[in-house]
Amino acid sequence: MKTKKEKMKILVVGGGGREHAIVWKLSRSPLVDKIYCAPGNGGIAEIAECLPVSAMDIVGMVSAAIENKISLVVVTPDDPLAAGMVDEMEKAGIRAFGPSKIAAEIESSKVFSKKLMKEYGIPTAGFETFASSEKAMEYLENCDFPIVIKADGLALGKGVVIAGDLKEASQAVKEIMTDKTFGEAGNRIVIEEFLKGPEVSVLAFTDGSTVVPMVSSQDHKRAYDGDKGPNTGGMGAFSPSSHYTNEIARYCMTNIYKKTIDAMADIGRKFKGVIYFGLILTKEGPKVLEYNARFGDPETQAVLPRLKTDLAEIFEAVIDERLDEIEIKWSDEPVVCVVIASGGYPKKYQKGYEIHGIQDAGRDGDTVVFHAGTKSENGRLVTSGGRVLGVASTGPDFRTALERAYEGVQKISFTDMYYRKDIGRK
Ligand code: AMP
Ligand code: GLY
Repeated sequence: MKTKKEKMKILVVGGGGREHAIVWKLSRSPLVDKIYCAPGNGGIAEIAECLPVSAMDIVGMVSAAIENKISLVVVTPDDPLAAGMVDEMEKAGIRAFGPSKIAAEIESSKVFSKKLMKEYGIPTAGFETFASSEKAMEYLENCDFPIVIKADGLALGKGVVIAGDLKEASQAVKEIMTDKTFGEAGNRIVIEEFLKGPEVSVLAFTDGSTVVPMVSSQDHKRAYDGDKGPNTGGMGAFSPSSHYTNEIARYCMTNIYKKTIDAMADIGRKFKGVIYFGLILTKEGPKVLEYNARFGDPETQAVLPRLKTDLAEIFEAVIDERLDEIEIKWSDEPVVCVVIASGGYPKKYQKGYEIHGIQDAGRDGDTVVFHAGTKSENGRLVTSGGRVLGVASTGPDFRTALERAYEGVQKISFTDMYYRKDIGRK
Protein backbone atom coordinates (compact mmCIF):
# COMPACT_ATOMS: atom_id res chain seq x y z
CA MET A 1 0.00 0.00 0.00
CA LYS A 2 1.17 3.52 -0.84
CA THR A 3 2.02 5.93 1.91
CA LYS A 4 0.28 9.27 1.49
CA LYS A 5 3.59 11.05 0.89
CA GLU A 6 4.48 8.98 -2.15
CA LYS A 7 2.64 10.74 -4.96
CA MET A 8 1.01 8.70 -7.66
CA LYS A 9 1.48 8.52 -11.41
CA ILE A 10 -1.85 7.49 -12.89
CA LEU A 11 -2.63 6.20 -16.38
CA VAL A 12 -6.25 6.46 -17.51
CA VAL A 13 -7.19 4.19 -20.43
CA GLY A 14 -9.61 5.65 -22.99
CA GLY A 15 -10.28 8.94 -24.69
CA GLY A 16 -13.88 10.07 -24.38
CA GLY A 17 -15.87 12.55 -22.31
CA ARG A 18 -16.00 10.08 -19.44
CA GLU A 19 -12.22 9.78 -19.38
CA HIS A 20 -11.86 13.57 -19.50
CA ALA A 21 -14.11 13.84 -16.42
CA ILE A 22 -12.04 11.20 -14.60
CA VAL A 23 -8.72 12.85 -15.53
CA TRP A 24 -10.12 16.28 -14.55
CA LYS A 25 -11.17 14.96 -11.15
CA LEU A 26 -7.84 13.20 -10.58
CA SER A 27 -5.96 16.37 -11.58
CA ARG A 28 -7.42 18.00 -8.45
CA SER A 29 -6.07 15.31 -6.13
CA PRO A 30 -3.12 16.19 -3.90
CA LEU A 31 -2.20 12.48 -3.97
CA VAL A 32 -1.52 12.59 -7.70
CA ASP A 33 1.78 13.72 -9.15
CA LYS A 34 1.24 13.13 -12.87
CA ILE A 35 -1.58 11.85 -15.07
CA TYR A 36 -1.23 10.04 -18.37
CA CYS A 37 -4.09 9.11 -20.67
CA ALA A 38 -4.09 6.71 -23.62
CA PRO A 39 -5.11 7.62 -26.20
CA GLY A 40 -6.78 10.70 -24.65
CA ASN A 41 -8.18 13.59 -26.71
CA GLY A 42 -7.72 17.32 -27.36
CA GLY A 43 -9.13 18.40 -23.98
CA ILE A 44 -7.44 15.71 -21.91
CA ALA A 45 -4.11 16.76 -23.45
CA GLU A 46 -4.41 20.09 -21.62
CA ILE A 47 -4.25 18.43 -18.20
CA ALA A 48 -2.53 15.09 -18.82
CA GLU A 49 0.15 13.61 -21.03
CA CYS A 50 -1.55 11.66 -23.82
CA LEU A 51 0.14 8.49 -25.03
CA PRO A 52 -0.47 7.20 -28.56
CA VAL A 53 -1.67 3.74 -27.46
CA SER A 54 -5.08 2.44 -28.47
CA ALA A 55 -7.41 1.53 -25.59
CA MET A 56 -7.65 -2.04 -26.96
CA ASP A 57 -3.88 -2.58 -27.23
CA ILE A 58 -3.31 -4.57 -24.05
CA VAL A 59 0.35 -5.41 -24.74
CA GLY A 60 1.09 -1.79 -25.68
CA MET A 61 -0.72 -0.47 -22.61
CA VAL A 62 1.19 -2.76 -20.23
CA SER A 63 4.49 -1.62 -21.83
CA ALA A 64 3.45 2.04 -21.55
CA ALA A 65 2.60 1.54 -17.88
CA ILE A 66 5.98 -0.07 -17.17
CA GLU A 67 7.93 2.49 -19.21
CA ASN A 68 6.29 5.44 -17.45
CA LYS A 69 6.55 3.85 -13.99
CA ILE A 70 2.79 4.12 -13.48
CA SER A 71 1.56 3.46 -9.95
CA LEU A 72 -2.09 3.00 -10.88
CA VAL A 73 -3.86 2.23 -14.17
CA VAL A 74 -7.57 3.05 -14.45
CA VAL A 75 -9.26 0.93 -17.12
CA THR A 76 -12.57 2.52 -18.13
CA PRO A 77 -13.92 1.37 -21.55
CA ASP A 78 -15.90 -1.87 -21.90
CA ASP A 79 -13.76 -3.56 -24.57
CA PRO A 80 -10.39 -3.64 -22.78
CA LEU A 81 -12.16 -4.68 -19.56
CA ALA A 82 -13.89 -7.56 -21.38
CA ALA A 83 -10.57 -8.51 -22.96
CA GLY A 84 -8.83 -8.75 -19.57
CA MET A 85 -6.64 -5.64 -19.45
CA VAL A 86 -6.88 -5.45 -15.66
CA ASP A 87 -5.73 -9.07 -15.32
CA GLU A 88 -2.77 -8.44 -17.63
CA MET A 89 -1.74 -5.31 -15.70
CA GLU A 90 -1.83 -7.27 -12.45
CA LYS A 91 0.21 -10.10 -13.97
CA ALA A 92 2.82 -7.48 -14.86
CA GLY A 93 2.81 -6.26 -11.24
CA ILE A 94 0.90 -3.03 -11.97
CA ARG A 95 -1.95 -1.88 -9.77
CA ALA A 96 -5.11 -1.51 -11.84
CA PHE A 97 -8.58 -0.18 -11.10
CA GLY A 98 -11.41 -2.09 -12.79
CA PRO A 99 -12.94 -5.56 -12.81
CA SER A 100 -11.12 -8.69 -13.95
CA LYS A 101 -12.12 -10.29 -17.24
CA ILE A 102 -14.41 -12.84 -15.58
CA ALA A 103 -16.08 -10.15 -13.48
CA ALA A 104 -16.51 -7.83 -16.49
CA GLU A 105 -18.60 -10.57 -18.08
CA ILE A 106 -21.52 -9.11 -16.11
CA GLU A 107 -21.56 -6.51 -18.92
CA SER A 108 -20.01 -8.40 -21.82
CA SER A 109 -22.50 -11.29 -21.69
CA LYS A 110 -26.18 -10.57 -21.20
CA VAL A 111 -26.87 -14.33 -21.04
CA PHE A 112 -24.46 -14.51 -18.10
CA SER A 113 -25.93 -11.50 -16.28
CA LYS A 114 -29.55 -12.58 -16.77
CA LYS A 115 -28.80 -16.07 -15.45
CA LEU A 116 -26.98 -14.57 -12.46
CA MET A 117 -29.99 -12.39 -11.62
CA LYS A 118 -32.39 -15.32 -11.94
CA GLU A 119 -30.28 -17.60 -9.77
CA TYR A 120 -29.86 -15.02 -7.00
CA GLY A 121 -33.36 -13.51 -7.12
CA ILE A 122 -32.29 -10.07 -8.32
CA PRO A 123 -35.30 -8.29 -9.87
CA THR A 124 -35.13 -8.11 -13.67
CA ALA A 125 -37.37 -8.66 -16.70
CA GLY A 126 -38.51 -12.27 -17.27
CA PHE A 127 -36.49 -13.86 -20.10
CA GLU A 128 -35.34 -16.83 -22.13
CA THR A 129 -31.94 -17.31 -23.76
CA PHE A 130 -31.32 -18.87 -27.17
CA ALA A 131 -28.28 -20.17 -29.03
CA SER A 132 -30.25 -21.17 -32.14
CA SER A 133 -32.31 -18.85 -34.34
CA GLU A 134 -34.86 -21.63 -35.09
CA LYS A 135 -35.60 -22.10 -31.39
CA ALA A 136 -35.84 -18.32 -30.94
CA MET A 137 -38.28 -18.01 -33.88
CA GLU A 138 -40.40 -20.86 -32.50
CA TYR A 139 -40.55 -19.15 -29.09
CA LEU A 140 -41.60 -15.84 -30.65
CA GLU A 141 -44.69 -17.46 -32.22
CA ASN A 142 -46.36 -17.58 -28.80
CA CYS A 143 -45.13 -14.29 -27.32
CA ASP A 144 -46.91 -11.12 -26.35
CA PHE A 145 -45.62 -7.93 -27.97
CA PRO A 146 -43.78 -5.62 -27.63
CA ILE A 147 -40.88 -7.84 -26.67
CA VAL A 148 -37.18 -7.08 -26.22
CA ILE A 149 -34.41 -8.88 -28.11
CA LYS A 150 -30.80 -8.47 -27.01
CA ALA A 151 -27.56 -9.69 -28.51
CA ASP A 152 -25.52 -11.48 -25.84
CA GLY A 153 -22.25 -9.61 -26.30
CA LEU A 154 -20.94 -6.05 -26.56
CA ALA A 155 -22.56 -4.23 -29.49
CA LEU A 156 -21.80 -0.53 -28.86
CA GLY A 157 -25.20 -0.13 -27.22
CA LYS A 158 -26.93 -1.11 -30.47
CA GLY A 159 -27.64 -4.77 -29.72
CA VAL A 160 -31.08 -4.15 -28.18
CA VAL A 161 -34.26 -4.21 -30.26
CA ILE A 162 -37.73 -3.47 -28.94
CA ALA A 163 -39.96 -5.37 -31.37
CA GLY A 164 -43.58 -4.27 -31.72
CA ASP A 165 -44.78 -7.40 -33.51
CA LEU A 166 -43.72 -10.83 -34.72
CA LYS A 167 -42.39 -9.44 -37.99
CA GLU A 168 -40.04 -6.97 -36.31
CA ALA A 169 -38.96 -9.59 -33.80
CA SER A 170 -38.14 -12.17 -36.50
CA GLN A 171 -36.22 -9.51 -38.41
CA ALA A 172 -34.18 -8.70 -35.28
CA VAL A 173 -33.38 -12.36 -34.64
CA LYS A 174 -32.31 -12.75 -38.26
CA GLU A 175 -30.07 -9.68 -38.17
CA ILE A 176 -28.43 -10.60 -34.88
CA MET A 177 -28.12 -14.39 -35.20
CA THR A 178 -28.08 -15.14 -38.94
CA ASP A 179 -26.65 -12.03 -40.57
CA LYS A 180 -24.32 -11.52 -37.57
CA THR A 181 -24.65 -7.71 -37.64
CA PHE A 182 -22.76 -7.60 -34.33
CA GLY A 183 -20.44 -10.51 -35.11
CA GLU A 184 -19.83 -13.05 -32.35
CA ALA A 185 -21.86 -10.89 -29.96
CA GLY A 186 -24.92 -12.36 -31.69
CA ASN A 187 -24.13 -16.06 -31.23
CA ARG A 188 -26.63 -16.08 -28.39
CA ILE A 189 -29.56 -13.83 -27.63
CA VAL A 190 -31.82 -12.95 -24.73
CA ILE A 191 -35.52 -12.46 -25.38
CA GLU A 192 -37.14 -10.62 -22.52
CA GLU A 193 -40.32 -9.07 -21.24
CA PHE A 194 -40.89 -5.41 -22.13
CA LEU A 195 -40.93 -3.24 -19.00
CA LYS A 196 -42.32 0.25 -18.48
CA GLY A 197 -41.16 3.03 -16.18
CA PRO A 198 -38.59 5.77 -15.77
CA GLU A 199 -34.97 4.71 -16.26
CA VAL A 200 -32.30 5.67 -13.73
CA SER A 201 -28.56 5.00 -13.80
CA VAL A 202 -26.78 4.29 -10.55
CA LEU A 203 -23.02 3.86 -10.62
CA ALA A 204 -21.37 2.37 -7.56
CA PHE A 205 -17.85 1.87 -6.25
CA THR A 206 -17.22 -1.62 -4.97
CA ASP A 207 -14.24 -3.51 -3.61
CA GLY A 208 -15.93 -6.87 -3.96
CA SER A 209 -17.78 -6.79 -0.66
CA THR A 210 -18.56 -3.19 0.27
CA VAL A 211 -20.67 -1.33 -2.28
CA VAL A 212 -21.04 2.45 -2.20
CA PRO A 213 -23.55 3.87 -4.70
CA MET A 214 -22.80 7.25 -6.24
CA VAL A 215 -25.51 9.89 -6.64
CA SER A 216 -28.15 8.87 -9.22
CA SER A 217 -28.31 10.11 -12.79
CA GLN A 218 -30.32 9.90 -15.99
CA ASP A 219 -29.06 9.49 -19.54
CA HIS A 220 -30.73 10.56 -22.82
CA LYS A 221 -30.08 7.76 -25.29
CA ARG A 222 -32.04 8.89 -28.34
CA ALA A 223 -30.56 11.30 -30.86
CA TYR A 224 -33.43 13.80 -31.18
CA ASP A 225 -35.60 15.90 -28.89
CA GLY A 226 -38.55 14.18 -27.27
CA ASP A 227 -36.64 10.86 -27.13
CA LYS A 228 -37.05 10.34 -30.87
CA GLY A 229 -34.62 9.02 -33.44
CA PRO A 230 -31.91 6.37 -33.27
CA ASN A 231 -30.10 5.26 -30.11
CA THR A 232 -26.77 6.95 -29.42
CA GLY A 233 -24.00 6.60 -26.87
CA GLY A 234 -25.86 9.26 -24.85
CA MET A 235 -26.82 12.86 -25.71
CA GLY A 236 -26.80 14.30 -22.21
CA ALA A 237 -27.22 13.43 -18.56
CA PHE A 238 -28.16 14.96 -15.27
CA SER A 239 -27.80 14.14 -11.61
CA PRO A 240 -29.72 13.46 -9.43
CA SER A 241 -32.80 11.75 -10.86
CA SER A 242 -36.01 12.99 -9.21
CA HIS A 243 -37.49 9.49 -9.57
CA TYR A 244 -34.83 7.96 -7.35
CA THR A 245 -36.22 8.50 -3.86
CA ASN A 246 -34.52 7.48 -0.61
CA GLU A 247 -36.99 4.64 -0.30
CA ILE A 248 -36.08 3.30 -3.74
CA ALA A 249 -32.39 3.72 -2.93
CA ARG A 250 -32.80 1.63 0.23
CA TYR A 251 -34.70 -1.06 -1.64
CA CYS A 252 -32.05 -1.21 -4.37
CA MET A 253 -29.18 -1.34 -1.89
CA THR A 254 -30.55 -4.53 -0.31
CA ASN A 255 -32.24 -6.23 -3.23
CA ILE A 256 -30.01 -5.25 -6.12
CA TYR A 257 -26.59 -3.71 -5.33
CA LYS A 258 -25.48 -5.83 -2.40
CA LYS A 259 -27.08 -8.97 -3.82
CA THR A 260 -25.24 -8.53 -7.11
CA ILE A 261 -21.85 -7.97 -5.52
CA ASP A 262 -22.35 -10.90 -3.12
CA ALA A 263 -23.52 -13.12 -5.99
CA MET A 264 -20.40 -12.32 -8.00
CA ALA A 265 -18.17 -13.11 -5.00
CA ASP A 266 -20.14 -16.30 -4.38
CA ILE A 267 -19.44 -17.66 -7.87
CA GLY A 268 -15.75 -16.78 -7.66
CA ARG A 269 -15.93 -13.64 -9.80
CA LYS A 270 -15.32 -10.97 -7.20
CA PHE A 271 -16.18 -7.62 -8.80
CA LYS A 272 -13.88 -4.67 -8.01
CA GLY A 273 -14.18 -1.26 -9.63
CA VAL A 274 -17.24 0.67 -10.72
CA ILE A 275 -20.45 -1.20 -11.45
CA TYR A 276 -23.25 0.54 -13.31
CA PHE A 277 -26.82 -0.45 -12.56
CA GLY A 278 -29.21 0.44 -15.40
CA LEU A 279 -32.51 0.46 -13.54
CA ILE A 280 -36.12 0.76 -14.62
CA LEU A 281 -38.60 1.81 -11.96
CA THR A 282 -41.67 -0.31 -12.74
CA LYS A 283 -44.99 -0.42 -10.92
CA GLU A 284 -43.83 -3.66 -9.29
CA GLY A 285 -40.63 -2.01 -8.12
CA PRO A 286 -37.13 -1.29 -9.46
CA LYS A 287 -35.64 -3.86 -11.84
CA VAL A 288 -32.25 -4.22 -13.52
CA LEU A 289 -32.25 -3.53 -17.28
CA GLU A 290 -28.53 -3.95 -17.63
CA TYR A 291 -25.21 -3.94 -15.83
CA ASN A 292 -22.12 -2.18 -17.06
CA ALA A 293 -18.73 -3.04 -15.62
CA ARG A 294 -17.53 0.56 -15.65
CA PHE A 295 -18.36 4.24 -15.37
CA GLY A 296 -21.16 5.29 -17.78
CA ASP A 297 -20.77 7.89 -20.49
CA PRO A 298 -22.16 10.63 -20.24
CA GLU A 299 -23.42 9.87 -16.68
CA THR A 300 -19.89 10.23 -15.31
CA GLN A 301 -19.71 13.82 -16.60
CA ALA A 302 -22.83 14.65 -14.54
CA VAL A 303 -21.88 12.63 -11.45
CA LEU A 304 -18.15 13.25 -10.85
CA PRO A 305 -18.45 17.06 -10.60
CA ARG A 306 -20.57 16.37 -7.49
CA LEU A 307 -17.93 14.16 -5.84
CA LYS A 308 -16.25 15.86 -2.89
CA THR A 309 -13.97 12.99 -1.84
CA ASP A 310 -10.59 12.50 -3.53
CA LEU A 311 -11.14 10.11 -6.45
CA ALA A 312 -7.59 8.75 -6.25
CA GLU A 313 -8.18 7.86 -2.61
CA ILE A 314 -11.34 5.97 -3.57
CA PHE A 315 -9.52 4.06 -6.33
CA GLU A 316 -6.83 3.03 -3.84
CA ALA A 317 -9.41 1.93 -1.26
CA VAL A 318 -11.21 -0.21 -3.86
CA ILE A 319 -8.01 -1.94 -4.95
CA ASP A 320 -6.91 -2.55 -1.35
CA GLU A 321 -10.41 -3.77 -0.40
CA ARG A 322 -10.90 -1.23 2.35
CA LEU A 323 -13.76 0.79 0.89
CA ASP A 324 -15.58 0.45 4.23
CA GLU A 325 -12.86 2.58 5.83
CA ILE A 326 -13.49 5.75 3.86
CA GLU A 327 -16.42 8.11 3.66
CA ILE A 328 -17.52 9.22 0.20
CA LYS A 329 -19.13 12.65 0.15
CA TRP A 330 -21.24 14.39 -2.49
CA SER A 331 -22.34 17.92 -3.15
CA ASP A 332 -26.10 18.54 -2.95
CA GLU A 333 -25.94 20.75 -6.03
CA PRO A 334 -27.30 19.14 -9.20
CA VAL A 335 -25.34 18.87 -12.45
CA VAL A 336 -26.63 18.92 -16.03
CA CYS A 337 -24.41 17.81 -18.91
CA VAL A 338 -25.42 18.58 -22.50
CA VAL A 339 -23.58 16.65 -25.21
CA ILE A 340 -22.61 18.46 -28.41
CA ALA A 341 -22.35 16.12 -31.38
CA SER A 342 -21.33 16.24 -35.02
CA GLY A 343 -24.36 16.75 -37.32
CA GLY A 344 -25.43 13.33 -38.62
CA TYR A 345 -24.31 11.35 -35.54
CA PRO A 346 -24.98 8.46 -34.77
CA LYS A 347 -25.04 7.77 -38.53
CA LYS A 348 -22.71 9.46 -41.03
CA TYR A 349 -20.90 12.63 -40.03
CA GLN A 350 -17.85 14.67 -41.02
CA LYS A 351 -14.76 15.22 -38.87
CA GLY A 352 -12.02 17.84 -38.87
CA TYR A 353 -14.07 21.01 -38.30
CA GLU A 354 -12.44 23.70 -36.18
CA ILE A 355 -14.13 24.24 -32.79
CA HIS A 356 -14.59 27.78 -31.42
CA GLY A 357 -15.65 29.25 -28.11
CA ILE A 358 -14.66 26.61 -25.57
CA GLN A 359 -12.69 29.11 -23.47
CA ASP A 360 -15.77 31.33 -23.13
CA ALA A 361 -18.09 28.43 -22.36
CA GLY A 362 -16.29 27.27 -19.21
CA ARG A 363 -17.23 29.35 -16.15
CA ASP A 364 -15.10 29.34 -13.06
CA GLY A 365 -16.49 26.96 -10.51
CA ASP A 366 -19.75 26.09 -12.23
CA THR A 367 -19.26 24.98 -15.85
CA VAL A 368 -16.72 22.55 -17.30
CA VAL A 369 -16.44 21.53 -20.92
CA PHE A 370 -15.48 17.87 -21.24
CA HIS A 371 -14.01 16.81 -24.55
CA ALA A 372 -15.06 13.57 -26.25
CA GLY A 373 -14.25 13.59 -29.98
CA THR A 374 -11.71 16.39 -30.30
CA LYS A 375 -8.07 16.57 -31.28
CA SER A 376 -5.45 19.20 -31.62
CA GLU A 377 -4.24 19.63 -35.20
CA ASN A 378 -1.52 22.19 -36.06
CA GLY A 379 -2.46 24.21 -33.01
CA ARG A 380 -6.20 24.20 -33.84
CA LEU A 381 -8.80 22.19 -31.95
CA VAL A 382 -10.90 20.15 -34.39
CA THR A 383 -13.76 17.63 -34.21
CA SER A 384 -12.69 13.99 -34.41
CA GLY A 385 -15.75 11.96 -33.44
CA GLY A 386 -19.53 11.72 -33.24
CA ARG A 387 -19.91 13.02 -29.75
CA VAL A 388 -17.60 16.03 -29.60
CA LEU A 389 -18.05 17.83 -26.26
CA GLY A 390 -20.11 17.72 -23.07
CA VAL A 391 -20.92 20.94 -21.25
CA ALA A 392 -21.50 20.18 -17.56
CA SER A 393 -22.84 22.84 -15.21
CA THR A 394 -23.76 22.94 -11.60
CA GLY A 395 -25.92 25.40 -9.70
CA PRO A 396 -27.86 25.89 -6.48
CA ASP A 397 -30.91 24.29 -8.11
CA PHE A 398 -31.67 22.15 -11.13
CA ARG A 399 -33.02 25.03 -13.22
CA THR A 400 -29.91 27.15 -12.77
CA ALA A 401 -27.65 24.22 -13.62
CA LEU A 402 -29.70 23.59 -16.75
CA GLU A 403 -29.59 27.26 -17.83
CA ARG A 404 -25.86 27.47 -17.28
CA ALA A 405 -25.21 24.34 -19.33
CA TYR A 406 -27.18 25.70 -22.29
CA GLU A 407 -25.52 29.13 -21.91
CA GLY A 408 -22.21 27.32 -22.21
CA VAL A 409 -23.38 25.35 -25.25
CA GLN A 410 -24.42 28.54 -27.00
CA LYS A 411 -20.91 29.97 -26.79
CA ILE A 412 -19.48 27.01 -28.70
CA SER A 413 -19.60 26.64 -32.46
CA PHE A 414 -18.38 24.42 -35.26
CA THR A 415 -19.78 23.44 -38.66
CA ASP A 416 -22.87 21.19 -38.43
CA MET A 417 -22.83 21.27 -34.62
CA TYR A 418 -25.85 19.42 -33.15
CA TYR A 419 -27.25 19.03 -29.64
CA ARG A 420 -30.56 18.14 -28.03
CA LYS A 421 -32.52 21.14 -26.76
CA ASP A 422 -34.48 19.19 -24.15
CA ILE A 423 -31.88 17.65 -21.84
CA GLY A 424 -33.28 17.58 -18.31
CA ARG A 425 -36.69 18.86 -19.39
CA LYS A 426 -38.62 15.64 -18.63
P1 AMP B 1 -29.68 -2.14 -22.39
O1 AMP B 1 -28.44 -1.97 -23.24
O2 AMP B 1 -29.96 -3.55 -22.03
O3 AMP B 1 -29.76 -1.20 -21.24
O4 AMP B 1 -30.86 -1.62 -23.33
C1 AMP B 1 -30.82 -0.34 -23.93
C2 AMP B 1 -32.13 0.36 -23.75
O5 AMP B 1 -33.19 -0.46 -24.25
C3 AMP B 1 -32.50 0.61 -22.28
O6 AMP B 1 -31.93 1.78 -21.80
C4 AMP B 1 -34.00 0.68 -22.37
O7 AMP B 1 -34.43 1.96 -22.80
C5 AMP B 1 -34.34 -0.32 -23.44
N1 AMP B 1 -34.66 -1.62 -22.82
C6 AMP B 1 -33.80 -2.63 -22.57
N2 AMP B 1 -34.43 -3.67 -21.99
C7 AMP B 1 -35.72 -3.34 -21.88
C8 AMP B 1 -36.89 -3.97 -21.35
N3 AMP B 1 -36.85 -5.22 -20.86
N4 AMP B 1 -38.04 -3.30 -21.39
C9 AMP B 1 -38.11 -2.04 -21.90
N5 AMP B 1 -37.07 -1.39 -22.41
C10 AMP B 1 -35.87 -2.01 -22.41
N1 GLY C 1 -24.67 5.80 -20.86
C1 GLY C 1 -24.74 4.40 -20.99
C2 GLY C 1 -23.45 3.71 -20.98
O1 GLY C 1 -22.42 4.23 -20.59
O2 GLY C 1 -23.42 2.56 -21.36
